[in-house]
Amino acid sequence: MWLFNRKGPSGFSASSTAEEVTQGIDGTGLTAIVTGASSGIGAETARVLAMRGVHVIMGVRNMSAGSDVKEAIVKEIPSAKVDVMELDLSSFESVRKFASEYNSLGLPLNLLINNAGFFGTPFKLSRDNIELHFATNHLGHFLLTNLLLDKMKKTTCESKREGRIINVSSEAHHLFQYSEGIRFDRINDQSGYSRFTAYGQSKLANVLHANELARRLKFGIASAVEILIFLIIQFPLALSPLVPENVNFSET
Ligand SMILES: NC(=O)c1ccc[n+]([C@@H]2O[C@H](COP(=O)([O-])OP(=O)(O)OC[C@H]3O[C@@H](n4cnc5c(N)ncnc54)[C@H](OP(=O)(O)O)[C@@H]3O)[C@@H](O)[C@H]2O)c1
Repeated sequence: MWLFNRKGPSGFSASSTAEEVTQGIDGTGLTAIVTGASSGIGAETARVLAMRGVHVIMGVRNMSAGSDVKEAIVKEIPSAKVDVMELDLSSFESVRKFASEYNSLGLPLNLLINNAGFFGTPFKLSRDNIELHFATNHLGHFLLTNLLLDKMKKTTCESKREGRIINVSSEAHHLFQYSEGIRFDRINDQSGYSRFTAYGQSKLANVLHANELARRLKFGIASAVEILIFLIIQFPLALSPLVPENVNFSET
């Protein structure tokens, strides 16, 4: 379709593949975390990063599916450096455990790709009692990003290579929205719930998170980490510090 083939300023279009976009790039020496890498876009991102020499850490909730993907990558690319770590974005405890384990591994972190996404019915609460789309797609990634930010800044300073934090959002961030935008005071309100608007709301939070984090890092921490917001296929990848009042993200 012409819409997907229309090239943007980058020279790529919505139908460009990950291999095309990364052609000629040497990722040797870089380390990336890709969330939700057990299927779909996350699995392909992990595969192509590994193909370019990046050490990929797959953050997955289904370890068996994650191991299958890893096995397929290593079979195709014998030199691939890929590890699988357990991560359930819908649980703050799991996110904290993942970040703590990662931070203690002694690995650098150049790229954080917040890709995992949930889209479903019926209305459900996470283990932390937060509507599941918002909890998984936004809050889990928000917390993960906060807990890994120091590691990324340190890596950037030591390696003198800019880091990248990428949130995978969706066109749903503007196509499916509650009329008032994000319902901060009614995240768990079932009235008027639809999976489309709940998903759209979480994806809008991804975009706002990216915008705000980019603003803070750009003006607050000089050029320690540049945030790249770009399009993979036709959706923006993004980040944001948008948290309901009852959620505490302090590390202690
Ligand atoms: N495909 C599209 O057309 C499209 C369009 C716009 C935006 N997106 C965005 O692209 C991203 C990837 O989607 P996809 O199309 O590749 O979908 P997908 O194949 O369903 O992949 C989603 C991944 O997220 C993981 N995930 C879901 N809940 C999780 C949780 N609580 N903790 C950890 N991982 C979790 C899934 O793991 P399990 O296998 O364990 O479920 C799966 O690996 C999502 O953020 C989505 O919103 C996709």
